Amino acid sequence: MKICCIGAGYVGGPTMAMIAKKCPEIPVTVVDINQARIDAWNSDTLPVYEPGLDEVVKEARGRNLFFTTEVDKGIQEADIIFVSVNTPTKTYGTGAGKAADLKFVELCARRIAEVANGDKIIVEKSTLPVRTAESIRRILAGSGKPYNFQVISNPEFLAEGTAMEDLTEPDRVLIGGEESEAGDKAVAALVDVYAHWVPRERILTTNVWSSELSKLTANAFLAQRVSSINAISALCEATEANVSEVARAIGTDSRIGPKFLKSSVGFGGSCFQKDILNLVYLCEHFGLPEVAAYWEQVIAMNDYQKRRFVDRIVKTLFNTVSGKKIAILGFAFKKDTNDTRESPAIYVCRDLLEEQANVAVYDPKVTPETIYRDLQTDASDERVSIMTDPYEAMKDAHAVVILTEWDAFKDYDWQKVYDNMLKPAFVFDGRNILDLNKLREIGFEATGIGQGGKRGTM
Ligand code: UDX
Ligand code: ADP
Repeated sequence: MKICCIGAGYVGGPTMAMIAKKCPEIPVTVVDINQARIDAWNSDTLPVYEPGLDEVVKEARGRNLFFTTEVDKGIQEADIIFVSVNTPTKTYGTGAGKAADLKFVELCARRIAEVANGDKIIVEKSTLPVRTAESIRRILAGSGKPYNFQVISNPEFLAEGTAMEDLTEPDRVLIGGEESEAGDKAVAALVDVYAHWVPRERILTTNVWSSELSKLTANAFLAQRVSSINAISALCEATEANVSEVARAIGTDSRIGPKFLKSSVGFGGSCFQKDILNLVYLCEHFGLPEVAAYWEQVIAMNDYQKRRFVDRIVKTLFNTVSGKKIAILGFAFKKDTNDTRESPAIYVCRDLLEEQANVAVYDPKVTPETIYRDLQTDASDERVSIMTDPYEAMKDAHAVVILTEWDAFKDYDWQKVYDNMLKPAFVFDGRNILDLNKLREIGFEATGIGQGGKRGTM
């Protein structure tokens, strides 16, 4: 048995590293067309920052884990081929702004069809619209080759920042296959791989369509929880309620549960928005406009939350941030990752720049190149400075804005920060991680998200 994974990104890299670690007898080759990415996977500085990933890659790399740009060879040698390429939201033509752009997936399918030299199990790992497996199947069938190509769906539920824990002890592994003898055999082959370390009862098998739809649905439900609590945060700010207290109170109801109720400046990441838009597109396509409108509201609320946060900053800073230095702490879409896809920080910074502010950005893991790219600018832009020292970022600033919940931010010497800022010194905690009362004792005018009431208001 040999495994190949096409796509060495945030999903393909960590997932294959875990399979290689847990299945030392299975050679796992990760292929990608991006030479720089492959070089990074083969170096000491991996392209993906994930706690615990370095150790796993170091243990397996060169033993049974390989990173290479030899895509065709990888395909030919493997029995199981994972397709883990990017599926961004389409930016052109039919479905622009909503549908998933499947061109990378289709290219993979065509490549497999062209170079395959034997039976293959093709595993959809990327999040895909329902019925994509059917398209892949048709492309493979079109090759006219005498081999058996089984397309199965195995969506990845790992969350960035906790990927290695999620992969080590997944709540469940979902595998969807064609309802036929050959389909069952392909599913069983993949079940055997995961059964190296995942208890059998946690490996769920379904038909392909349920598996594809479950991934979209899981992400839609999770994002909906964040938007729901964020909607309540707006009401908290208008009243004397405190969203953290409300979240704790409702989270103790076992039917609701405590997770995913942290109000924030908004959700980001490569999945939530993309998957919901995809779901919305599917609903519209299948003539279900009411269902589409229902889910679309989750995104609308998220956009509102980001906008509202910037509005508050501008209003609080005497209705103008023009020419003012604003320190931005955190650019990643969540802590413990260097990923910035759909990060609220991008939107907040862009809006602040539009208001003519100067931003000084500090993030412990995101590179300056990424920040400049996301803000569509470069190092010559005097409005954007990227700092390697957080205290430098905050020096002489009018306001500090927390956009990622990095643990280290809590332990800063906030007295020192205060002493070096312009007064009044404002803090806008978009992640509710700082003790606002302590900051106020120092002298800050500090505010969080949804922190109404005596303990929260400015
Ligand atoms: C998500 C899903 O959790 C994962 O199962 C799927 O495979 C991919 O999409 P990810 O995007 O990596 O994972 O991170 P997640 O922890 O879900 O956070 C997404 C966004 O929601 C982040 O911006 C995070 O800060 C925000 N969030 C999360 C909140 O604002 N409040 C919360 O309570 C939880
Ligand atoms: P994800 O978060 O889903 O892992 P990424 O964008 O991090 O997404 O990674 C996807 C990877 O897939 C990228 O490194 C990209 O170069 C790679 N890729 C895209 N198309 C192909 C292809 N046809 N063949 C090989 N690799 C591809």
